[in-house]
Amino acid sequence: MFETMKAAYAKSDKGDAAGFTNWRRYSTQAYVSDTHGGRYVQNWGNTAAKAYGNYESAGTFPQGAKLAKDSFAVNAKGGVSVGPLFLMEKMQAGFNPDSDDWRYTLIMPNGSIFGTTNGAGSDNVAFCIGCHQSVTPDQDNVLLLPEEYRVR
Ligand code: HEC
Repeated sequence: MFETMKAAYAKSDKGDAAGFTNWRRYSTQAYVSDTHGGRYVQNWGNTAAKAYGNYESAGTFPQGAKLAKDSFAVNAKGGVSVGPLFLMEKMQAGFNPDSDDWRYTLIMPNGSIFGTTNGAGSDNVAFCIGCHQSVTPDQDNVLLLPEEYRVR
């Protein structure tokens, strides 16, 4: 399944959609995320986002920090399909005060970009911000994964 997902996202012209698989994976296995369509997801972070591994004590992320969440769905008959790729990137100060300068991007399984904060389809990803901001200021918009699936 992983190779199928990788191939699907790699069709995107956004580099991170193919590159995230070289980042560090923070989930020990795929788990169901109700807040991302009830799909199976895994969480990844680039080097600039390495504080993610401190989880609740991660603090404020630096510019250039990138987090990714891949996804796939399993239907009632056991059929498996690739789901969207969810990306967060910390941009320069002042990029978007409403999201604490995080840029949210949703990439469809065919590689097309459904929306990206302050770019094409920005309205389509506005809903990401409200939910992710629910943990500020304790956490910098990261909602973290359930404890039992965390890489330590
Ligand atoms: C209703 C709430 C909600 C919405 C809406 C939502 N998320 Fe999340 N997101 C979460 C939760 C909860 C987690 C961590 C637990 C999990 O994996 O389910 C998370 C985790 C993530 C992560 C991993 C980094 C982290 O925060 O720990 C990324 C990347 C992400 N979401 C991107 C997105 C994008 C992009 C959108 C919009 C297209 C979005 N999310 C919409 C609740 C939400």
